[in-house]
Amino acid sequence: MNLRIPGPIPVPDDILHEMSRPMINHRGPEFKEMLYRVSGRLKQVFDTRENIYILTASGTGALEAAVVNTLSPGDKVLCTTIGSFGDRFAEIAERFGADITTLGFPLGTAVDLEQLRSTLEADDGIKAVLVTHNETSTGVTNDLESIANVVKGQFDKLLLVDGISSVCSIPLHTDAWRCDVIATASQKGWMLPPGLAFISFSKRAWRAHAEAKMPRFYFDLAQYQHYFEIGQPPYTPSISMMFALDLALERIIDEGLAALYERQARIGKFPRSGLLAQGLELFANERVASDTVTAFKIPNGIDSTELINILQNEYQIVVATGQESLKGKIIRIGHMGHTTEAEIQDVLDALAETLPKMGFISPTTSVV
Ligand SMILES: Cc1ncc(COP(=O)(O)O)c(C=O)c1O
Repeated sequence: MNLRIPGPIPVPDDILHEMSRPMINHRGPEFKEMLYRVSGRLKQVFDTRENIYILTASGTGALEAAVVNTLSPGDKVLCTTIGSFGDRFAEIAERFGADITTLGFPLGTAVDLEQLRSTLEADDGIKAVLVTHNETSTGVTNDLESIANVVKGQFDKLLLVDGISSVCSIPLHTDAWRCDVIATASQKGWMLPPGLAFISFSKRAWRAHAEAKMPRFYFDLAQYQHYFEIGQPPYTPSISMMFALDLALERIIDEGLAALYERQARIGKFPRSGLLAQGLELFANERVASDTVTAFKIPNGIDSTELINILQNEYQIVVATGQESLKGKIIRIGHMGHTTEAEIQDVLDALAETLPKMGFISPTTSVV
């Protein structure tokens, strides 16, 4: 099966195999050594000198942790959103009592820096800004460095980032860009199954934590820091996933982040040029198109469910439809982790065979 949804991603066999190792004592020396080794490598990937905390949760858990560890009910929060996951980040903050202002942009586009600047200028009571680095629902990457320059450089607000489908795939420099909190999850660029989330926390975030009054227990990062100092997790961890993470990180560091980002950028271009060559239309504005997930528009007259079913049943290729208002209107192809060009070529070939049979006439086909 060629699993080409934007997470979970296919996991290499040897990494999967690590998960079948016998359990160890999570409060013993072997775990402590692994925790420190893994944490050191996570810091390299996030490019930060601060500790990274490992949560047994999916990405949404880490988004919740970002919110409840830094904010209080009633705090004014500006949530930029370019799709479903930006909306979710806002909803989490709202549920916990934040006073949300949403700054939304048309689906398929990225955050507009001028609008961000003018919104922050208009309300100096805003305490924090929420940003999705890579919006998986539309296949768009925000220019996080420029956003951080505005949020931190010009307005000095707390910057909380959903990096779930970007960290370890798209270049990111947590400290240099002054991102206060970045949340990510194992089933995306990390070559791992779902189940772990990783979160960075700046010194400024810790100062916010000292005053933050939103309720928190399982995700209280003070517990994670306290236990980290003695080489333990606060609660029973997913030991099997930790084994897998240990090996995945060894691979990532061996490859080198510069090489990994370059490979990911190359693989990102591949489906975009292949789809355009078939006369299909990309959903995202090409200038901001993501290197981890590509969305294309379903051509008029084509039934997306039928197309998805044919790809699955006849080609063993699994792709994702759009979410919410984009359901049935786009198809998303994931290419995180260790995706090869051959795997993407198989998707392109299957589309090239199937779409004309379904009645699609490519505008690139010359009529004689
Ligand atoms: C950008 C982004 N944010 C949030 C989430 C939610 O993460 P999870 O499903 O791991 O809770 C996802 C998952 O696809 C995502 O891609």
